[in-house]
Amino acid sequence: MATLLEISGLTSHYGRIQAVKGIDVTVQEGELVALVGANGAGKTTLLRCISGVQPVTSGSVKFAGEDITRMSPEGRVALGISQSPEGRQVFGPMSVEDNLRLGAYRRSGAAAIKADMDRIYEMFPILHKKRDLPAGTLSGGQQQMLAIGRALMARPRVLLLDEPSMGLAPLLVAEIFRTIVTLKEAGTTIFLVEQNANAALAIADRGYVLETGSVVLTDQGQALLANEKVKEAYLGL
Ligand SMILES: Nc1ncnc2c1ncn2[C@@H]1O[C@H](COP(=O)(O)OP(=O)(O)OP(=O)(O)O)[C@@H](O)[C@H]1O
Ligand SMILES: [Mg+2]
Repeated sequence: MATLLEISGLTSHYGRIQAVKGIDVTVQEGELVALVGANGAGKTTLLRCISGVQPVTSGSVKFAGEDITRMSPEGRVALGISQSPEGRQVFGPMSVEDNLRLGAYRRSGAAAIKADMDRIYEMFPILHKKRDLPAGTLSGGQQQMLAIGRALMARPRVLLLDEPSMGLAPLLVAEIFRTIVTLKEAGTTIFLVEQNANAALAIADRGYVLETGSVVLTDQGQALLANEKVKEAYLGL
């Protein structure tokens, strides 16, 4: 399997505060990799370094062998890096369908865009039902579906998901995670960042545990789930 994403010795700061402290992470093509950690561990900062909206202090981000550490966010979208951001960030006054269309803003080919939109409506029938309504009228879970759908409309080579379970009731969390598994099974490469370690590690091929800006453990998803230290710290067992 080819390495798609390779993060080496990555550090990033907010002013003098170092939020990411020398992280090494790899994601192979077709893999579902989870990065779990508590509130403030640096998960979002790391994702934003990958998508290019957060400056990197040192270290590198490589995508499909190419060093993209200093590339613009737009350039990275063009390469196939697509993010569903923390807190969904859908455009409330715009319709559901226009939000989805926005995800394809860099693409041409109306027929292919339409076909992808149909696939997303198949995946999330509620979005189809509400396609003409303002996105702001959707529930939290539906907005999460929309954020994932919008990211998929870019036809990503890697999908970055920032806490898709945040603020959702357990049944909805289960639904979102089932969708993530379906996407992985269809061949999508996924880097999933979560506070909900239990749910994320249960579906991940491999996982990383992040603590205050550093990776403290990495293993197969199932092995981390069974790890005593992880259980104590993150699973409340
Ligand atoms: N805009 C900012 N300015 C200053 N410090 C920030 C900023 N954003 C994040 N930080 C700090 O950087 C560290 C990492 O934050 P980050 O948001 O990456 O964590 P996180 O793991 O995504 O947390 P959460 O699970 O709550 O989303 C924290 O100490 C946070 O306070
Ligand atoms: Mg975060």
